[in-house]
Amino acid sequence: MAVPVLNLKAQYAGIRDRIDEAVRAVLESGHFVLGPNVAALEEELGAFLGVAKAVTMASGTDALHLGLRAVGVEAGDLALVPAFTFVATATAVSYIGARPIFADIEPGTFNLDPHAAAACLAGKGPRPHGGGRAKAMVPVHLYGQPADMEPLLTLSRSHGMAVIEDAAQAIGATYRGRRVGGLGEVGCFSFYPTKNLGAMGDGGLATTQDRALGDRLLRLRVYGGRQRYLHDELGFNSRLDEIQAAVLRVKLKYLGAWTARRQVIAARYRAGLAGLGLTLPFERTDSTHVYHQFAIRVPDRDAVQRRMAERGVQTAVYYPLPLHLQPLYRELGYRTGDFPEAERAAKEVLCLPMYPELTDAQVDEVVEAVKRSL
Ligand SMILES: Cc1ncc(COP(=O)(O)O)c(C=O)c1O
Repeated sequence: MAVPVLNLKAQYAGIRDRIDEAVRAVLESGHFVLGPNVAALEEELGAFLGVAKAVTMASGTDALHLGLRAVGVEAGDLALVPAFTFVATATAVSYIGARPIFADIEPGTFNLDPHAAAACLAGKGPRPHGGGRAKAMVPVHLYGQPADMEPLLTLSRSHGMAVIEDAAQAIGATYRGRRVGGLGEVGCFSFYPTKNLGAMGDGGLATTQDRALGDRLLRLRVYGGRQRYLHDELGFNSRLDEIQAAVLRVKLKYLGAWTARRQVIAARYRAGLAGLGLTLPFERTDSTHVYHQFAIRVPDRDAVQRRMAERGVQTAVYYPLPLHLQPLYRELGYRTGDFPEAERAAKEVLCLPMYPELTDAQVDEVVEAVKRSL
């Protein structure tokens, strides 16, 4: 039995009538950008996430970029970023002319290690070339599990830094009873099609509990002004279109059930893979994990991945090279060995198929493929 790593066609098949109807209504309305669906979606997401303001954008990358600008990060500043995440977490910093300052991750959760972050801000350990003040921290809730926000928030407050949460992979996850995205100054989400709440194109969201920051985000997404043809500051074009908003409104109604199914699949993987000597995803006891990915660690990862593929089971490696070793960031002067946990994760991590439409039989086939490929 072949098991693809993702199956967006199966998702569409399950909700086709509602999606088609919502898209057709937009086409007939003649209103395509920042219209009634965007306004309604922002209300619905704001309520779901428990935030004062939700501002949709063209992508998750834009939410990070404009979020960092909104809190006052400027050219020449630094922003602390985990060394193991998708590149957009760091490029958002670079777009401003600021530089990422990397810190290592916790081996269990793959998330920013508060001790490593504290050491980094105390001037211990590897630093990027050049000076600059660390104005912001960007913890990532990687694979759908919240970073350890309490010590990270305490640390950032003590250094006068803003916290921009990269919640691109973690919509709906909670940390100590509160949804991620509402814990720091700005929360950033991606609606890239493969995400837990995915559009049928690109889309993103920035959230905040602070009304003034919400106003700033609204200005930054449309040319730096709230009033047409009056521009207070340098702004951008990062609007969400009505078709994507209409699609996301339909899908948001299913998100709770889809997340629950992801958690059931994770439990089935856990039971099936127990006792094999593999490192299974660590689950924090004070948080909920929404399993954007089910990321295991396998020492001989590339060979295991190849053998699984030969059997018809696709897997993915997110991410094979940590950010401090990317050619893009060579100029920062980091070296191999600077962040050992990030480097080890990049060598060992293997993400198994994870989407709500997976059948139990497919999950069992993945388990069997892992067992036979070790
Ligand atoms: C952790 C993380 N940050 C940022 C992004 C960027 O989001 P987008 O692709 O919507 O720009 C993604 C997803 O692609 C992501 O996984």
